[in-house]
Amino acid sequence: MYQTLVTDLQDGTLVITINRPDKLNALNKDVIEELGKVMDEVYTNAEIKTAILTGAGEKAFVAGADISEFTALDEDGGAELARRGQQGVFDKIENSPKPVIAAVNGFSLGGGCELAMSCHFRLASENAKFGQPEVNLGLIPGYGGTQRLTQLIGKGKAMELMMTADMIGADEAKALGLVNHVVPQAELLAKTKEIAQKIHTKAPVAIAKVIACVNDAAKGAADGFANEIKRFGECFATEDMREGTAAFMEKRKAIFKGK
Ligand code: COA
Repeated sequence: MYQTLVTDLQDGTLVITINRPDKLNALNKDVIEELGKVMDEVYTNAEIKTAILTGAGEKAFVAGADISEFTALDEDGGAELARRGQQGVFDKIENSPKPVIAAVNGFSLGGGCELAMSCHFRLASENAKFGQPEVNLGLIPGYGGTQRLTQLIGKGKAMELMMTADMIGADEAKALGLVNHVVPQAELLAKTKEIAQKIHTKAPVAIAKVIACVNDAAKGAADGFANEIKRFGECFATEDMREGTAAFMEKRKAIFKGK
């Protein structure tokens, strides 16, 4: 079904593997287009409760946008590449009502770091390396990196990483708040799936509202508090809220329907 992705849906989790290992899973036009399509599937397929993004092989998550496609672009072409990627993939991942988790299994550079950062949170294998090396190419990050890296690790460290093009290891990424957990590579997918399964036991409508509210905060949205009030109220109109509170009172496990 996809040429550049491998997808596997099990127990409500869609594992999306970017599959160009000989090019360290670099994001070319085809990968960007297919990531947009697979995200449409995540949004619309009721069987999918969470998604995990990872890269094929043991070396790279994604080593960046495909640099070989840059040489033919002019100013408008560069802007269009960034716009198409941001709107068609990165924003779609960030705004997904279902959790999208990055399992970063190696190099996560440039567009790869940006892809991981557009996910709702990240786990990394011990060999993972993160960086925004665009200035080496006379470029800046174009898939949201200047914004999301600053949101995640703060202005000073983001400036240094983007100015020096330095790579950092998984432990430093964790210390900076870029990743939540560091695990041996062989355990990465299992640990990520375990977290996804825990999320599946919670109320899906509430999960979607958590995503929307936290995204408001990360963007510094002026109406973040007002939106929280509105969305908190909306929860009271859901069957899941009735079920969750009734289950607590009755000392039993809640069974949520996502309604
Ligand atoms: N775009 C296109 N091709 C890429 C790529 C990218 N971002 N990153 C790696 N590749 C390709 C290499 O060209 C090479 O292809 P080839 O075998 O046909 O020559 C293959 O992937 C393997 O990469 P290689 O550089 O040989 O591996 P390495 O272990 O020596 O180095 C990196 C690994 C990640 C340090 C190095 O590939 C690199 O610096 N990549 C670019 C990172 C980058 O600048 N990303 C930001 C882009 S905006």
